[in-house]
Parts: sequence; C-alpha cells; structure tokens
Amino acid sequence: MKVLIVGGGGREHGLGWKLAQSPLVEAVIAAPGNPGLADLGRCAPVKAEDVAEIAALAVREQIGLVVIGPEAPLAAGLADRLAAVGVPVFGPSAAAAELESSKAFSKEFCARHAIPSAGYKVFDDAVRAKAYLGEREPPFVIKADGLASGKGVVIAETRAEADAAVDQILFLRKFGTAGQRIVIEDFLPGEEASFFALCDGETAMPLIAAQDHKRAFDDDKGPNTGGMGAYSPAPVFTDAVRDQTMERIILPAVRGMKAEGRPFKGVLFAGLMISADGPKLIEFNVRFGDPECEVLMRRLKSDLAPLLLACAEGTLAAAPPPDWDPRPCATVIFAANGYPDEPLTGSVVRGVERADAVEDVVVFHAGTRRDEDGLLRANGGRVLAVTALGDTLAHALAGAYHALERIDWPGGFYRRDIGWRALKR
Ligand code: AMP
Ligand code: GLY
Repeated sequence: MKVLIVGGGGREHGLGWKLAQSPLVEAVIAAPGNPGLADLGRCAPVKAEDVAEIAALAVREQIGLVVIGPEAPLAAGLADRLAAVGVPVFGPSAAAAELESSKAFSKEFCARHAIPSAGYKVFDDAVRAKAYLGEREPPFVIKADGLASGKGVVIAETRAEADAAVDQILFLRKFGTAGQRIVIEDFLPGEEASFFALCDGETAMPLIAAQDHKRAFDDDKGPNTGGMGAYSPAPVFTDAVRDQTMERIILPAVRGMKAEGRPFKGVLFAGLMISADGPKLIEFNVRFGDPECEVLMRRLKSDLAPLLLACAEGTLAAAPPPDWDPRPCATVIFAANGYPDEPLTGSVVRGVERADAVEDVVVFHAGTRRDEDGLLRANGGRVLAVTALGDTLAHALAGAYHALERIDWPGGFYRRDIGWRALKR
C-alpha cells in the first residue's frame, strides 16, 4: 500500500522512516513533509490542517493508510473527512480528539470514569477564578482550555503570578479562543513520564514509555518548549506502573470513549505523574509525542504498518504485540537560536550526513527546508532530532552528542544534559 503521512516535523520523519522499512509499504508520501521525508519518498505541498486538500490528495493517490502526526488536523476533523471518503486512517475523530483539544472535556471525562488525575475546577470568569485561588495553597496550576502548542500551562509559585496568568489567558486572550475557559488544577508531585498505547475504538495495546525535557535550557531552566530531548526506557516507568496505567487510565478511557459515542482510534498518549500511590494522569494527548516518537520508532523492531492498520480497521485484539529493542535510545533536539519564543530561521545547516553516518545514529528532520541551491536551512524552532541507540543510556547519549558535534550550524543550540534524571539513578 501507499502511506500518506500528514505533518512535517521530527515525529512525522520518525514515523515515515519506520513505515518505509515495512514490506507492506510500497511508497511513503508526506504532506507537507520535510527534506528528511523527501529522501524517503515524496512530499506534497499541502498544509497538514487543510482538511479538504489532504482528503483529495489521499483519494487521488489511492492511499492505503493515512497517518496523522499532529493534533491540529485531528481537532479540525481530518480523520472524519478521510473516513467519509473511504480512506483508512490512523488517528481519532474530532470528537475523540477533544481528549486533547479541550482540557475541560478531558478533566470532566476523567471524573466521569474515575481516571486518577488532579482535582480541578473550570472557570470562564476571572473574578471567580481568583477568588478560588485565594482559597488555595501554591503552587497553582493554571491551564488554557484549548490547544496552545504546549504553552498554555502556567505553574505559579505565588498568588501574584497566578492572578497574572488568569488575566493573560481570560482577559488579554494570550491564547486566543483557546483561553475562553481555564482549568485550575491541584499540583501533582512526582516524576513525569510519557506513555503510549494504540487503540482501535474497542481495545488498547500498550507500547512503551519515554521521558522528555520540556524546558529550553540545561538544568531544566528557561521557558517550556515542545520538548528538547527524550529517552526510552523511562526508569520510573516499571512494569508494575505500566500495568496500573493500563488498568486505571488507558482501558477505562477506551471503554469510556466508546460508551460516550466517541470511540478512540489512534495512539493515546498519557502524560503521567508517577507518585508514591501510582500513576496519575496530567493530560491526554491524541497523537504521538514529539520528540518521544523518534525514540519509540528507533526502538521498535517489528513492523509498524500492520499495527497502525489494525487501529484503523478495529482489529487490534488480533494483532501480534510489537517487539522492542532492549537497548536504550536518546534523542537530542538541535533548536534554532531564540526558540521557543522567537526562533531565528533561514540559517544554513551543514554536516547532517556526517552526523547521520555515526554508528547507531539517525538524524530526523524536525524543522528544515532545502533551498534552490540544495542547501539545508532552518525552517522552524526545533530543527533536528539527533537520535541514537546504545547498550546503555549513557552510550546512547554519547552517540547523539558525538553526532551533534559533526553538525556545523552556528544558528542553533541544544541541551547538554538530556537524560540527567535517568543517569542519576
Ligand atoms: P501539559 O501541557 O498539560 O503537559 O503541562 C505542561 C507541564 O506542566 C507538564 O509536563 C507538567 O510538568 C506540568 N504540569 C501540568 N499539570 C500539572 C499538575 N497538575 N501538577 C504538576 N505539574 C503539572
Ligand atoms: N513532547 C511532548 C508532546 O509532544 O506533547
């Protein structure tokens, strides 16, 4: 079959890299893709959120499976449109994607189905929200209801910061209509992990966990980003925690979504806080994490295509479970200077082939473009995801950092301490 990958980041390059190796996949097409995906197949100049054009492309190309990478096209109803024109699709409907696109829906859903997560209240009125903050102790957790590219969450240490966050979201509309409502949550202590499970509307199949680094700079300083690096396995995510996560969080969510008439098909990404009394849900996402996906794809030894197809077709219960490389994997993001606030794009990136040639390293393109002269240029905040396997996590990280040194790009920066939490153990 021909596969169409929707999106153009490191996650989508990772998915395309893996799917291109499948004996079931005859061609990989990406929309809009990136130079990494172009090397694997072909890119169509269609925006990921352009639902009508993506659907037309899928029909025209007789695509056997569309794999939707980012959340925005899911929330915009791309999976619904593809289903309506008869194209098999990996990714949830817009109604099911509300698990990510509305934090208020997600919190209320967890309450209805007894899924362990932080206590919360929803507000659309700043005065009431601030009065509620007055009854509580810091740290305060304040979230815009809608999609805000991972930036809609404020953890405030003081009342003044918390009040300012309420005003910025509700009055000043810092996140536009995504901030028509806010959620104020209890602060959950513990260590975070990202866990992924495939779903076909009826049942779920566990994948593995990873941990990412959200802050821009070393020592977890600086602003929150989409993720500056990731590694797998996550030492905090033991087999016992995985079983608890499946029983208490993933399977109740799949059953609950089906019962509410919004069957969930695709990958359910549970952002978890691992506390003394087990995993608690911070948030659901309805797609693979980026850069978590890059490390998962490197560790997956068996074929990805039949699993994604089984999600689309509702036959996951009969699908053989995936086989994982026991070796750890790490990815380090090479980001454009100025990321996340104002990344400077356009500078020339040299030496990606030299980095890619390092043993056990694959460089995924996250935000690049090829210019008329064939030069690779920065074209986004997160530009490359340099990904390495190793016998130990320390070896994997050494490989990734060795490869990064071979890249000649003065316009970018990366964290030097990816994996510190796991290495400290
Ligand atoms: P989110 O965008 O919901 O993943 O939140 C971004 C980050 O804020 C998370 O990765 C956590 O580090 C932190 N966070 C969100 N909600 C909570 C919470 N209830 N308690 C503690 N930390 C949180
Ligand atoms: N790396 C976190 C995310 O993709 O949301």
